[in-house]
Amino acid sequence: MANASGHFSPSIPSLRKRNNPPCIGIYRYGFPSAEGISKRVFCSSTIQGAEVSPSQSRVPRLISKGCKLVGCGSAVPNLKVSNDDLAKIVDTSDEWISVRTGIHNRRVLTSNDSLTALASEAAQKALQMAEVDPDDVDLVLLCTSTPEDLFGSATQIQKALGCKNNPLAYDITAACSGFLLGLVSAACYIRGGGFSNVLVIGADALSRYVDWTDRGTCILFGDAAGAVLVQACNSEEDGLFGFDMHSDGDGLRNLNAPIVENEVDCTLGSNGSVLGFPPRRSSYSCIQMKGNEVFRFAVRCVPQSVESSLQKAGLTASSIDWLLLHQANQRILDAVATRLEVPPERVISNLANYGNTSAASIPLALDEAVRGGKVKSGDTIAAAGFGAGLTWGSAIVRWR
Ligand code: ACO
Repeated sequence: MANASGHFSPSIPSLRKRNNPPCIGIYRYGFPSAEGISKRVFCSSTIQGAEVSPSQSRVPRLISKGCKLVGCGSAVPNLKVSNDDLAKIVDTSDEWISVRTGIHNRRVLTSNDSLTALASEAAQKALQMAEVDPDDVDLVLLCTSTPEDLFGSATQIQKALGCKNNPLAYDITAACSGFLLGLVSAACYIRGGGFSNVLVIGADALSRYVDWTDRGTCILFGDAAGAVLVQACNSEEDGLFGFDMHSDGDGLRNLNAPIVENEVDCTLGSNGSVLGFPPRRSSYSCIQMKGNEVFRFAVRCVPQSVESSLQKAGLTASSIDWLLLHQANQRILDAVATRLEVPPERVISNLANYGNTSAASIPLALDEAVRGGKVKSGDTIAAAGFGAGLTWGSAIVRWR
C-alpha cells in the first residue's frame, strides 16, 4: 500500500535546527536553483470565512511558492436519463435507485458527442472565471480513465483551447480519484516547478464502458467534465493547506475494467512460429464492481484520509466550510460526514442530478456550488476522491 504526505518539507522539528542547509528548489526546467530557498509559512492568518482558533492554526509548511484555485467550470451532455428510463431496460425501479444511491438522473454522451469537447468547454469556462488567457496556461492535466485516444486526450484540449504557447498537456488515469490527484500534481508543479497556470480537468464518459444490462452498475454512472485553474501565488496566500493520497492494488479485484483480447485467433500456424504472436487486438471489458466492498472501503478510508489532511493543515472538521466528496452514492456522503461530524448542510451534493461522473464529479459539484453562490471566496473546503485502483485521497483547499 502506498501513500503520500501533504508535507513538502522535512519534519517540523528539523526546521528548528540551526544552520539548516537551504532547501533547493527545482524550477520549471528541472534545474536546481538557490532562488528556490523555501520559506517557513504560517498560514493561519490567511483563512477567511472560517473561524479558526489558535489551537486549530495551520501547521507551518515549507513552500517556496503558493498555489490557489482561481477559476472553475463544467459541462454536461444534453441527454438526460432518468431512473424511470433505466427501469425500461433493466430490472430496477426509481425507488430502489433513489433509496440506495440518492441518484435520480444522469447525463449520457450519445455517439455524436465528444468527451474532449465537453472537457474543453469546462476548461474554457474555468479560464474565463479566472480571467486567464489560454496563452498563459503552461500545463493542462486531463484526469480521465476514458480518453478518446489510447494515448490520451489532453493534447486535443490544449489544441481546442488555442493555447499558442504549446503548454505541456497529458492525461492522468486514476478513476474517481483522478481529479484530486491532478489537483495535488498541479500544486507540486507550481510549488516546486515554476509553473504559473495549471488547468486541471476531470472528465469521464464511463457510460461507454458500462454494461447496460447489469443493473448493479449501469444505474450509477453519468458523463461530465469539470475543471479548475490552479495559479501560482505568494506563499503567504497559499490555498492548499494539506493533502493525503493512497493506493492499494489489492483492491483492484473489487472494481475494474480489464483488457480483453478479441475473439479472432491470430496465432501463427504449425510452421514453427511462436504461438500467441502476433497478439490479438485488445479492447476493454465493461466495468465490474463488487459494490458493497467498494462501499465499505469508501466509508472506512475516506474519513481517515480527510482527518489526515486536516491534521496536516492544522485544522479540524469543525473549522471547514464545506465537505466535497466524490459523488458516488448519497449513503457514502452521509456516512463519511457523520464520521467526521460535519452537519448535512455543509456537505456539497449534486449526485441526484448527475450520478457518479468519476473524475468529473468533484469539479462539477464545486462549479455548481460556486456559481450557485453556495461556496464563497475564502471558504475552506475538504475534498476527497476515491475509486478504482483502488485509489483515494483528500485535500484541504481554499476557494479563491
Ligand atoms: N435495482 C434493483 N435491485 C438491485 C439493483 C438495482 N439497480 N442492483 C442490485 N440490486 C439487488 C441485488 O441483486 C441484490 O439482490 P439480492 O439481495 O436478491 O441478491 C440487492 O439488490 C442488494 O444488492 P447490493 O449490491 O448488496 O446493494 P447495495 O445496497 O450494496 O447497493 C450499490 C449497491 C448502490 C452499488 C452500492 O454498493 C454502492 O454504491 N457501492 C459503492 C459504489 C462506488 O462508490 N463506486 C465508486 C467508485 S466508481 C469508480 O471508481 C469507477
